[in-house]
Formats: sequence, C-alpha cells, structure tokens
Amino acid sequence: MSSKNTVKVSVSGENILNLPLLEGTLGPRVIDVRKLYSDHGYFTYDPGFTSTASCESSITFIDGEKGILLHRGYPIQELASQSSFMEVAYLLLHDDLPDLDQLNHFRSEITHHTMLHEQLIYFYRGFRRDAHPMAIMVGIVGALSAFYHDSLDIADPDQQKLAVIRMLAKMPTIAAMAYKYSQGQPFVYPRNDLSYAANFLHMMFSLPVEPYEVSPVMERAMDRIFILHADHEQNASTSTVRLASSSGANPFACIAAGIACLWGPAHGGANEAVLEMLQEIRTPDRIPEFLARAKDKDDPFRLMGFGHRVYKNYDPRASVLRESCYEILEDVGNGSEPLLELALTLEKKALADPYFQEKRLFPNVDFYSGIIFKAMGIPTSMFTVLFAVARTVGWLSQWKEMIEDPKMKIGRPRQLYKGHQKRKFVPVNERNS
Ligand code: SDX
Repeated sequence: MSSKNTVKVSVSGENILNLPLLEGTLGPRVIDVRKLYSDHGYFTYDPGFTSTASCESSITFIDGEKGILLHRGYPIQELASQSSFMEVAYLLLHDDLPDLDQLNHFRSEITHHTMLHEQLIYFYRGFRRDAHPMAIMVGIVGALSAFYHDSLDIADPDQQKLAVIRMLAKMPTIAAMAYKYSQGQPFVYPRNDLSYAANFLHMMFSLPVEPYEVSPVMERAMDRIFILHADHEQNASTSTVRLASSSGANPFACIAAGIACLWGPAHGGANEAVLEMLQEIRTPDRIPEFLARAKDKDDPFRLMGFGHRVYKNYDPRASVLRESCYEILEDVGNGSEPLLELALTLEKKALADPYFQEKRLFPNVDFYSGIIFKAMGIPTSMFTVLFAVARTVGWLSQWKEMIEDPKMKIGRPRQLYKGHQKRKFVPVNERNS
C-alpha cells in the first residue's frame, strides 16, 4: 500500500497500524477500519455516526459545507425546476434519467399498482379515528407483507422489482386513506388517468358529492415537494431501512421501519413541529423569547426546522421550498401568508444571531415545507406522512443498492462497554436491600 493511501495509527507509542485510505468520486476520503478489530483488536467509537461512512453508495451526494445536493450527479435545483417526480424516482432507482419510452413504461407500471388489496381497508377500521396518521402508516405498510407474498423474496430479482413498484405505487394511496379515515370520509380510489402527484391530491381531497379538479399549481407544487424529499444519503431513516434490510427482512417490513424512524421530531417529524412552533410563536414580537429558549442549554426547546447534521450552510432544498411558498400562497393562500411572514422574520433574526452563526445553524428542508402543506390544506398531522411518501423511493433505491451488493453483510455494530465486571449471582433471600 503506498503511503499516500494509508493512515498510520500509533497506539501508546508503538504498534503502528497502517489503515487503507479509500477515495470516492466526491467527498472526504475514508479510513477503512474493516480489519481494525480482526487484525488489531480495536473498535472505533462514533455514537451518532458523526464521522462514519456506513456504506458505499452512488445514489446521492451531499456537500454540507457548500450546501450541495446531487442525485446521481444532477443538482437538486435542476431536478426540482426541470424534472418530474416520476423521472427522479426512475433516476434514483436506475442511475440514469429515463428516455421517453422508459418513462412511460415506468409510469404505467406504477399507475397499475396504485390500488390496495381491498381487505386492507379492515386494518384502517381497527385504528381510532384520532390515531396519528404516521401510526397508521407504520401499521399498514408493515402489514403489506401479509398480503403480497409474491414480492417478499429479496433474492428473486423479479420479486424485488415487483416489491419496489408496489411500494412506490401504493404509498400515496395508503397515505390518502389514512387522511380520509381521520376525517371520517369515504376512501377514494386512485385513478389511472392522473399523474402521481395529482392522483395523491385527488385521493386526499375529492368527495363523492361533487367533482374535484386538481389545481395545476397544487399538482406542480406537490410533485416538486416529492422531488425535494426523495432521497438524502444515509440519514437516520435510510440507515434504518438499510440495517433492517441487512438481515434479509422483507422490503415492506424494512420500509415500515424507515417510516417509524422518520416520525421522530429530530428527523422527518420536524416539519410538523415547525408549524406547531410557528403557531406557538404567533407574532414577530415573541421571536426573541423563542430564540433565547433555543440558546438556553437548560431548555430542551430547539428551533425546529433549523440545524442539520450535514448541512453547515443553507439546505438547498429549503431555498427551493421558500420560493415555492410564494407560488403556492399566490394561488391558494388560504390565510397562510402571516405564517410565511413570521417564518421569514424568524429566519432573518436567527441567521443574524451569533449563536446560530457560530454553530452554523441554517434552515433545513423542514422549515418551509410545513407552510406549503398548510397552504395546500393539508393538516399538520399529515406533514410527516407526505415526507414518508416522497422518501419511499429513496429508501427503496438505497435498499436495492444494498441487496444487489455482493459484499452485503448483516449490520452488527459493537460498543464501548461501561457496565459491571463479572460478578456472582446472589439468591433473593440472601440479598441485603
Ligand atoms: C431532517 O440527516 C438528514 O439528511 C435528515 C433530513 C433528510 O432529508 O433525511 O435532512 C431531514 O431530518 C432535517 C432535520 C430536521 N430536524 C429539525 O429541524 C430539528 C431541529 N434540529 C436539531 O434537532 C438538530 O439540528 C439536528 C437533529 C437536525 C442535528 O443535530 P446534530 O447534528 O446532532 O447536531 P447537535 O445536536 O450536536 O447540535 C450541534 C449544536 C448543539 O449545541 P452544543 O451542544 O454544541 O452547545 O447546535 C445546537 C445543539 O444544541 N443546535 C441547536 C439546533 N440544532 C442544533 N440549537 C437550537 N436549535 C436547533 N435547531
């Protein structure tokens, strides 16, 4: 190994270890520690994986310092402004943008799998009407493995492909049904003549009592939001899907695990928390109070929608979403303008604050998405559900990449043990309290 491709590690002045340095197409080089324990008896220690590359991937690249996000090499800004979610879904799954025939075939495959097995309706009936829709999503998606037995065997490429198509196609249907159930309204079947985004809006908002036309501005905004949330490298929920898949679990169970992880307020649940935070702040004069709370170490309050493990610059998705806010509010408004004004003022004051500057905390994807969702008439409890619908193609792409990797192994991290030394069991009648 040439010295420029190795890292030398000395332990208490001796045992120089030569660890290989690996280089990717873009981004930091990585120290290959795979043999560190087997050859040298050491673990690495990185709770939260702040400095750990968990896998090799070709799907998404993020440069957090520069605020760059590429999907298979294409900048997110270009995809959001010039592509469609179906094209981006194909790109993430197949490494290249589709030609027209490929796109039409892919779109048709998805369209013809949007219906759910009719018996799954009875699963919805088992939930309380006020169940959080993310709880329903975890339950229903996990239950798909009880219905679609011909797409569970991940070793069979045809079953793998069918599972991807089914999951991608059915997520909007499952999500819209969770919303309808919470509203006490009848479920709406998908339609084959609508686009992915329009079909979702149709299943969410149409009612049997009158015609419902999807507004082209809403359809475009929904499609763009799906693109912006589609994939994001090895985030917590994607890592959850990868770890679950590494045991050979079926794809529906793995996606259900990803949904469960995304629900957390530190992750995809932040969009719901941002709206609740803005509604609690209510007026610009209360912003200083909340900024002070966000900076107070004794206060668990954090400025939701701000900060990111990777982005130490503006999240490029937040910039696109902020622009989309203006378009949507112009078209559907519905009284969300004050919220947007408040968010813009909050952003300005936070970015001018030394605490946020020193810690390099910028608005992330969740800061503006909730305002758009609210303007579109989507209830706050559905915000993370929409994130899950969009992120499903990212989870599936990462899942596919991993199970197609001949080097795939079950993920099994180790630990730094800080518990008791070995000790003798004492029967309960001999234990002194
Ligand atoms: C998503 O990983 C992804 O790619 C995720 C995502 C995706 O597309 O999959 O981009 C989607 O999850 C976006 C993030 C949504 N979450 C939020 O908006 C919740 C609010 N943000 C924080 O909880 C936080 O910023 C995280 C969880 C996003 C990141 O946390 P890190 O990387 O673990 O950073 P940290 O908690 O160590 O924070 C560093 C410092 C800390 O202060 P010190 O201990 O150094 O004194 O910054 C502070 C934190 O207290 N800090 C904040 C803050 N975020 C970090 N202080 C106030 N408000 C905040 N929002």
